[in-house]
Amino acid sequence: MGKTVVAVFSGTGNAFRASTLVTQELKVAAHSVETLDLSAGAALPALGAGDTLILCTSTLGFSPPSTVMSRLKAAPRSPGARAAVLFVCGGIMSKGTISGGWSGAAPLVSLALLKSKGYDALGSADASYPENWTQVTEAAMGADQEAIIARGDAEARAFGKAVAEGRPGFIKRNMLTRSLGRFIGFIFRNIARRVLAKLYIADDRCTSCGLCARSCPASAIVMKGGLPSWADPCCACNRCINICPAAAIQSSTARLVLFVALNLVAVFASSPAARALLAWIAPSLSAPAHGLLSITLSLALYGVFCALQLGPLDRLLCTLERKPALRRFFTASFTRGFRRYLAPGFNKE
Ligand SMILES: Cc1cc2nc3c(=O)[nH]c(=O)nc-3n(C[C@H](O)[C@H](O)[C@H](O)COP(=O)(O)O)c2cc1C
Repeated sequence: MGKTVVAVFSGTGNAFRASTLVTQELKVAAHSVETLDLSAGAALPALGAGDTLILCTSTLGFSPPSTVMSRLKAAPRSPGARAAVLFVCGGIMSKGTISGGWSGAAPLVSLALLKSKGYDALGSADASYPENWTQVTEAAMGADQEAIIARGDAEARAFGKAVAEGRPGFIKRNMLTRSLGRFIGFIFRNIARRVLAKLYIADDRCTSCGLCARSCPASAIVMKGGLPSWADPCCACNRCINICPAAAIQSSTARLVLFVALNLVAVFASSPAARALLAWIAPSLSAPAHGLLSITLSLALYGVFCALQLGPLDRLLCTLERKPALRRFFTASFTRGFRRYLAPGFNKE
């Protein structure tokens, strides 16, 4: 029997927990298991025929986290090795019933990437643990949390056992859900996670301990003047907001409102601006050429605005929100009183 590598990426500890259970099942079946922590910067190794890679990761926006996608793209070719994927999802308790999460096209996308590296796809599964998008859903507590974790544990164990016995199945998606999952996943990885990253802010409770920066799985946080600042590699895994010992990290309401307002203005202004620009630089165009160029130019103008808002505009906001007179305005947040979630026993210090 070849070796088995369990590669794990986790924001708040659920995928770590699931990977431990998968590993236990593999060890019971006498597999030799090596664990790799992708959220601590590990890269995927080259595997040979007879070896098995098990990817165990959180699901973000119906997609593998962008950090995991980068590791999969950079993985060395491993012809003849086998790969199975376990997507740890967000489950919630509603009126005494657990609603499991949904990994969308994440299993398909990751297995397709692994196949392009020479792997044979062995299987895929979801395991629902408590939802960690605590800005959006109320973090599960007490008996509710225990019940959701018990469900996730059972799903992770079942997957581990099936892989150990060489008989895991594949998650089935019909054409509609597959396409929807792929589309939303693409938008999340390329746009939404960047927007979410731009909403994080540390409020007056921040003690400058730097834990968020030290433990960020994407190395996206840098401490500037004693306060954390989020950069582009952020995959929105939500570790920082949930791990902060002072619950000082928030989603800034002011930033959210500003981003929505500025983007609406940019969307509605790009088309008239493109038409005015065309009338000025090429006044005698035929109607079809004018229409086509006008759409292209509008998209280009909006693209320029997006680049500005991720670069110079963001830097301007960072400077403004550090001014004592404006700090209260920028750090006001709907998440200040929200509960946080970390998997029991998860410790990244
Ligand atoms: C920004 C964001 C997006 C998420 N998207 C999904 C999703 O598409 N489907 C899902 O089931 N759970 C989603 N979740 C929930 C997490 O995948 C889930 O809580 C998971 O158990 C977290 O695992 P971890 O503790 O290993 O990070 C999302 C969470 C965040 C923060």
